[in-house]
Amino acid sequence: MQPSGGRRVVLGITAGIAAFKAAELARLLVRDGADVQVVMTRSAGQFIGPMTLQAITGRPVRDALFDPVHEAAMGHIELARWADVILVAPATADFIARIAIGMADDLLSTLCLASGAPLLLAPAMNQAMWGHPATQANVAALVERGATLLGPDDGDQACGDTGPGRMREPAALLGDLQASLVGARFAGRRVIVTAGPTQEPLDPVRFLGNRSSGKMGFALAAALTAQGAEVVLISGPVALPTPRGVERIDVESALQMRDAVLAELPEAVLFIACAAVADYRPLEVAAHKIKKEGTSSLKLELVRNPDILAEVSARAERPFCVGFAAETDDLEAAAESKMRTKGLDMIAANQVSVSRGFGTDDNALLVIWNDGRVALANQPKTQLAVQLVDLIADRFDAQAATKNSG
Ligand code: C5P
Repeated sequence: MQPSGGRRVVLGITAGIAAFKAAELARLLVRDGADVQVVMTRSAGQFIGPMTLQAITGRPVRDALFDPVHEAAMGHIELARWADVILVAPATADFIARIAIGMADDLLSTLCLASGAPLLLAPAMNQAMWGHPATQANVAALVERGATLLGPDDGDQACGDTGPGRMREPAALLGDLQASLVGARFAGRRVIVTAGPTQEPLDPVRFLGNRSSGKMGFALAAALTAQGAEVVLISGPVALPTPRGVERIDVESALQMRDAVLAELPEAVLFIACAAVADYRPLEVAAHKIKKEGTSSLKLELVRNPDILAEVSARAERPFCVGFAAETDDLEAAAESKMRTKGLDMIAANQVSVSRGFGTDDNALLVIWNDGRVALANQPKTQLAVQLVDLIADRFDAQAATKNSG
C-alpha cells in the first residue's frame, strides 16, 4: 500500500458523534507522513475540540470562510489548490446534502466545490437517515460526479439503533485513502468508455433513438477514475453531469461514436462499450423536414451501422474489450454467444424490459469471461460499477500476467 507520506490531506470534520474518531484518524495520517489540514464545520466543534486536532496535526484548525487571519496566510482558494485529497470523516447527512446541491456556505463545502482534488466521503449517521431516499439520492449524485464513498459500516450505533451508518474505523479509512492515492487498480492507464444512446438522424428535426440513459456508462467512468484511470467518456445524448476528472466527448450518431472511439484508441488499454448503439440508421437523411401532408404511410429504409466493439476487438493491437448485452430472453446463452462472435474478453449481461435496465437507477448484471462468471445483485448502478471495475481489473491483471509469462 502506498503511504500517504508527503501528501497534503484536507481532513474535513462535520458534526456527528463519530467526530471523536477523527482525532485518531488525524493521528494515523500524521504518523503515515501526511501533511494534514483539518477543516471543521461550525457545529463539529460541539463534538471535538479544535485544540486536540491542532495538537495532533501541528496546524491550526480552519473553520471559517471569512477569517481575515487565515485568509491572509492561505486563502480558501489556495487551500482548495493545496489539497492533494479531501477526506470528509465523518460526513453527516446534512453535509452530504449540502455538497450534493453545490452549496458553498461554509469553508468545507466551499473547498469541496472549488477543489479538483479527489473527494472521499466517510458517511456517519443514524441508519434511518442513511437509508432515507433523500440521502441515497444525494450520495448517488456525488458518486456519479466522481466522489468516492468510504463505508458506512454496519453495526451498533450511538443512538441505540443497529444498521448501516457507522463511520468506518480510522485504520480502515487510512487504508482507503492510501489505496485512493495510488489510484489503485488502473493508475495512469487510459480507458475508453462509451455510454448512452445514439441518435440516428432522419431529417433535421427527427431521429431514431433508444431508451438508454447513460447512467451505467457514467457510473463506470466515475468508478474507473476513482481507480486512477484516465477516462475518455464518449457519450451519446444524455442528461447527466460529467464525473469529476473525466474527459468527455459528446457525439450523436453511431458513425460519430465510431470515429471518436477510433481516434482515441491508440493510447487505450481498456475499452468498455456500454453505449446502446443503434444497429441501423436511415439510409437517407432528408435535407428538409419530412412532410406528412398527402401521405398515409412512410417507408424508411435502414442500413446496418458498423459494430464499434466488434471492430475494435478485431484489431491486432487492441485494448482489453468489455461489452454489454441487454437481452429480453435467454440472457446467459445470448451473452455467451455475443462474447464469442465479437471476440470479447468479458461481457456484462442484463435482463431488460420496459421497466428494468434502461433508464433505471438500479440494475443487476451477469458478468461472463472465458473461464468464469459472477452474478452481481440488483443495486444502484453507481455501486454496481465499482464492483464491475474490480472484476475487470482482476481479469485485466490476469491477462497481463499470462502475456508476460508467455
Ligand atoms: O450486438 P449488441 O448490440 O447486442 O451488442 C451490444 C454490445 O456491443 C454493447 O457493448 C454495445 O456497446 C456494443 N455495440 C457497438 N456498436 C454497435 C452495436 C453494439 O459497439 N453498432
